[in-house]
This record gives sequence, structure tokens and C-alpha cells, in this order.
Amino acid sequence: MNFENSLSFAQGLDQQDNIKHLRDAFHIPKQDGQNVIYLCGNSLGLQPKSARTLVDTQLQNWAQLGVEGWFEGESPWLYYHKELKALMAPIVGAQVAEVCPMNTLTVNLHLLLVSFYKPTAKRYKVIMEAGAFPSDQYAVESQVRHHGFDPENAVIEVRPRTGEFTLRMEDIRATIEEHASELALVLFGGINYITGQWFDMQEITRLGHEAGAVVGFDLAHAAGNVPVKLHDWNIDFACWCSYKYQNGGPGGIGGIFVHEKHFANQQLDRFAGWWGYQEQTRFQMQKGFSAEAGADGWQVSTGQIIPMSIYLASLQIFQQAGFIDPLRSKSLSLTAYLYFLVRQVNENLDIEQFTIITPNNPEARGAQLSIIARSFAREIFDDLIKEGVIGDWRSPNVIRLSPVPLYNTFEELYRTAEVLQRIAEKYL
Ligand SMILES: Cc1ncc(COP(=O)(O)O)c(C=O)c1O
Repeated sequence: MNFENSLSFAQGLDQQDNIKHLRDAFHIPKQDGQNVIYLCGNSLGLQPKSARTLVDTQLQNWAQLGVEGWFEGESPWLYYHKELKALMAPIVGAQVAEVCPMNTLTVNLHLLLVSFYKPTAKRYKVIMEAGAFPSDQYAVESQVRHHGFDPENAVIEVRPRTGEFTLRMEDIRATIEEHASELALVLFGGINYITGQWFDMQEITRLGHEAGAVVGFDLAHAAGNVPVKLHDWNIDFACWCSYKYQNGGPGGIGGIFVHEKHFANQQLDRFAGWWGYQEQTRFQMQKGFSAEAGADGWQVSTGQIIPMSIYLASLQIFQQAGFIDPLRSKSLSLTAYLYFLVRQVNENLDIEQFTIITPNNPEARGAQLSIIARSFAREIFDDLIKEGVIGDWRSPNVIRLSPVPLYNTFEELYRTAEVLQRIAEKYL
């Protein structure tokens, strides 16, 4: 599309947007009585207005039913997660039985690694992207040590080439091939949190499997953002948080995916708990763990009804949107427009003040653009916040801006570029 750097053009795009009404389903934060321009859904998604009602319904159930709430009421808590599963599955391209809401992201990653990182003396290595989110690095390091290996030697990181910010598929391929005979696991983020690069998940999975390894993904920045097809891409396992693009609230409940091809495997270890026990006989309190079928069998503790009710509020909005494809379609335009506008700011300033390190190829990114400011990066970021443009900061110099199709508008992006230019001029 040929974009224009004008308010009327941006407003025209908003008029053509057939899911623009969904913005009304969210609380937009305010600063000095004005709506902010919230470009931070990559960190914490906005609150669905319906969240309060859904939470309130469960508080009322609790007030009126007490412990009977597990079995009584419109949606007994014992089965509450099933409502979420049905709406989570289409967002990540999974079958309903393959997903489950539970715990939080890093906890789930550990639980899945218990099942899917099964090193042997010969095959014990893990390939990750260098600069993976620290929690993933710590989780993997500690799992590797737990199995008696040394992370220095067992964890192989694929790095960008000198002078580059993002990974090349050929380097990922070469690394997998180089370590193939010793490889136990390939674990990548779907989208890297710093650069916003969306990896070729299907190809990484194919290569990992060809090497005889298990392949898993941390989808914190991908789930609800880009159209992933976890089942069809034959991914072994994945986990995500709900609080970014899926608006599940701060510290909200996480989600897991386990491919159905693993369901029948009785050899998989798990750190079991009673909530993963077969649903029909859980309350017989028998000795000896017997897992519920599907991803539900990885649950450990009692279902978290209040966090689930917040996530459900957002999932219902995804359902209204028609799930991921209509959102992706708008997201492609929003992010391309922001990319264009930031480049316009550089042109107007007559220097490359802002370098976008996120790939320009739309198939290699989601909503987020990561921008390095040539100078005064922190000052510019702080000024953006003061002017009501909310992005986020990653040291030493990355500003992340993420237009989210559920609630951002093209006009907001036009205004963001205006503010960015004004601020940058101050520091020239
Ligand atoms: C890519 C990625 N992985 C893991 C985490 C940690 O998630 P949690 O604190 O919910 O375990 C985050 C948090 O932002 C993240 O962005």
C-alpha cells in the first residue's frame, strides 16, 4: 500500500477498519484527562471492560455458593477452564485438547521441560536464540544443571552476525546441523522480545525434528499477535503468558500447548499434581498418579478461577473479532504504517535518528517495532511518555512500540510520529 504522512490519510484508514469498534471494549489509560496513545501491548495488554463483570460473576458465585461453586452455578469452576480452552485453541492454531490455561509462563516452561528435555549422555544440548528473555535462559540453565550437565557446554546460542540485529535462518539451520547428533532440544521464542523478529517456526521445527530433537517455543510475544499454527507445524510444546497481546491482566494466567502426538506417550515424565489427574476420578483421591488426557494432564494445582475469568473476558473479544486472521490483517497495516512514519521522521530530520531493528519483512515480525535512537534515546523515550505516548524501554537504547489491532488506531500512529519528530528536533 502507498502510505501518506497525513492526518486525513490516517483517519481514512481508520474509517475503512472493520474491527475498529473493538477498541470500545477496552479501558484506554488516561494522562491529564486525555487518552494516552498506548503502544505497549507487547508488555501489558489493556483491560477489557468486560473483565470486571466476569470477575464479579465469579466473586458472586463464591459469595453465594461457597465451595459448591466448584460444582454448581452457571459455569461450575471444575470445568471453567474448558470455556477458555475452546477460545485459546483457534488463537494458536491448536486442537482444543492440546491447550490448557494454567500457572504462569516460566512455571509452565519448567513443567514442559521436565517432560520434553530428556537429555542423555550423547544427546543433551539445547539450541536457543542468543538474547532470549532472561527467564527462559535461567529456566534452561537450571534444567541443564539439574540433569548434571554444564550450561556453558550444553546451551548453544544462535547469534546475529556482527553488525546485524536479527538472526538469519541459514545460521539457525547451520547451528542445528552442526550439533545435530548431540541435540536434545531446540527452544526458541516465537518472536524475540527485544528485536520483534518472528522466527520461521515451522522451518525451525522441521530442522529440529530432522536432527532428532524435540522443538518447543515460548510464545509470550507471538500468541494473540501473529497467526501461529502449532498443531499443523508439528511443534512439540509451547507456552505463553496471557498478559501481553491477550490482555489477561498483570501476572495473569499462562497457557500451554502439547501436541496431540504426545498424548499417548506414557514414558513422558511430568511433575504431577492432583489437578492433572483424570477429571472423572480425581476426587476418589487414589494413590498413584494417572494423567487426564491432553494438555489438561499437565495441570498441577487447583484451577485459578479469578485469573481465568479475566483471560476469558479477553478471549471473548478475540472471538468477536473472528480470532486471529482479521486481527493479523489489520496488524500488518498498522505496523507497516508505523514503519513508514518512523522513516518519514528520519527523512524530515534529515538524519537516521531512528533505526528500526525489527525486520522490514512483514512475515518476519508481528505488531512490535523496536527502534534504536541514535542519540538521547532515554531522554526521547521519557519525553514520549510525558507526551502521552506509552511504549517501553529496553536497555541500553531500544524503544519498543507495538500497535495492537484490537485497540490502536492509524490516527494514533500518525500522532505518535508527530510527537516523535517534535521531541527529536529538541535534541538535534
Ligand atoms: C519472552 C518472555 N518469556 C518469559 C517471560 C516471563 O514470564 P513470566 O514472568 O510470566 O513467567 C516474559 C515476560 O515478559 C517474556 O517476555
